[in-house]
Amino acid sequence: MRIDIITIFPEQFESVFNYSIIKRAKQKGIVEIHTHNLRDYSTDKHKKVDDYPYGGGAGMVMMIEPIFNCIQSLKSQKNYDEIIFLTPDGELLNQKTANYLSTLQNIILLCGHYKGIDERVREHLITKEISIGDYVLSGGELAAMVVTDAVVRLIPGVLGDETSALSDSFQDNLLAPPVYTRPAEFNGWRVPEILKTGNAKEIEKWRFEQSILRTKQRRPDLLK
Ligand code: 6GU
Repeated sequence: MRIDIITIFPEQFESVFNYSIIKRAKQKGIVEIHTHNLRDYSTDKHKKVDDYPYGGGAGMVMMIEPIFNCIQSLKSQKNYDEIIFLTPDGELLNQKTANYLSTLQNIILLCGHYKGIDERVREHLITKEISIGDYVLSGGELAAMVVTDAVVRLIPGVLGDETSALSDSFQDNLLAPPVYTRPAEFNGWRVPEILKTGNAKEIEKWRFEQSILRTKQRRPDLLK
């Protein structure tokens, strides 16, 4: 999979994508992530990417031209399955969307800023709009990192144990069960006996029950 990220802050991505799972996925050649500085696509002599809103009002608006130029340049080299704009008024990201995106070959993530983005970008250039939650971030960069992380870990071969993405919370609309490691007793706090029996069938049953219980207690909305 290839992910192209259009942003005015490409440096923000460097540390996040160079650790842990994403780093390993890049090293294995399973994913390629490229950031593109939107300012490089401005034809303005000051590399301007935003301007005052028509009709007045507070805040600047991201201009269509640099975005168009950048997307055209990418499209001239590759076909893209989705061109995604990160925005608080997009569809809420969930595991289902992450699963879908992880099946794609090439995607573009466009990070917004300021008051908004010229609506014509959304009408004519964007194929999908995603929000990562009902709160407002200062820019789409953190959201693009969240989407990338949620998606990359689902690509087959990225996680060591092929089954471990399947046992994630939300994968079946249930929260994950509790897990324990050694020691079996700490401060008098004990690991549930069932997990030490070696009875795979009973352990699986216990985990499923714990998942249901936890989901009922914490996220009853998921059970509907
Ligand atoms: Cl995708 N962008 C911004 N700026 N704020 C958000 C968001 C995205 N998702 C939730 N809040």
